[in-house]
Amino acid sequence: MENSLAIEGPLARTLPLPTVLDNIRQQIDPSPLIRIRDMSVCYRGALGDCDVEVLSGVNLDIGQGEFHVILGPSGCGKSTLLNVIVGLLNHTGGEVGVAGRPITRPGRDRGLIFQNADAAIFPWLTVLENVEFGLRMSGTKRQVRREQARKFIRLVGLEGHEKKFPRELSGGMKQRTQIARLLANDSDILVMDEPFGALDAHTRRVMQNELVRMWIETKKTIIFVTHDIIESLLLGQRIHIMSQAPQANIHKTYETGMEYPRSETLPRFTELLSTIQGHFDFGGGI
Ligand SMILES: Nc1ncnc2c1ncn2[C@@H]1O[C@H](COP(=O)(O)OP(=O)(O)OP(=O)(O)O)[C@@H](O)[C@H]1O
Ligand SMILES: [Mg+2]
Repeated sequence: MENSLAIEGPLARTLPLPTVLDNIRQQIDPSPLIRIRDMSVCYRGALGDCDVEVLSGVNLDIGQGEFHVILGPSGCGKSTLLNVIVGLLNHTGGEVGVAGRPITRPGRDRGLIFQNADAAIFPWLTVLENVEFGLRMSGTKRQVRREQARKFIRLVGLEGHEKKFPRELSGGMKQRTQIARLLANDSDILVMDEPFGALDAHTRRVMQNELVRMWIETKKTIIFVTHDIIESLLLGQRIHIMSQAPQANIHKTYETGMEYPRSETLPRFTELLSTIQGHFDFGGGI
């Protein structure tokens, strides 16, 4: 069989090739890029005590260059988890590390797309100035950063709107400004909190395709939150389903195992769709 490897000797069996490659990769570099162990997060009350333990016992390994999607019911703690990964929020228990070091603060290696674009883009800067902001901060020359910014503005379909201020943009346009800025910043780890939620169906599909293309080209590591099961199946190598808050954690992980670009008509796609849908039917079920 072309997609499998025969193991000889007393344990003789045939393993699927992706499993064999995964095993080899883990032996070469056993530590994942992002490693979360038994992690918990409390939001503290006025007296500084633990008001509500939103996350508890979260375990997650994310390897370099992998594309992970997180699905979960509203309010379960998806944004909380992402905020810990980018270093905007401190966890209260367990371990969270990137490249072997504990995460304690934001870093240029991790870029975040916020769920709410209004909280992310600067109202006093134009689209162009917002997109080139990170490059300006890192001292990139004006001409180079303008070129980079314009390239990503074109990619997200905002050409012609470069001089507009956020108050002159629709919700979807603001979100696209944020996406362009993230891509221009060129962080190795892209953390995306429902980035396409405010886009119309057509733009959303274009952006999904572009994201997969960019990921295959650049091999960045992506952690992507969505409510949309179809979107999760179009994008992720692994899909993690979170349980309900409080004390939410990763309830189940699915290996999607499909080539890109993916079609909704693939038998594996429809099979996973109905399995994952089952977690959310009947009021959550997780
Ligand atoms: N700053 C805060 N202080 C206290 N509680 C908070 C705070 N931020 C979030 N929470 C609570 O933590 C829980 C998880 O919130 P979070 O925003 O992480 O959920 P989510 O899964 O991203 O939801 P959604 O899908 O609606 O975006 C919610 O019950 C929310 O009320
Ligand atoms: Mg959220």
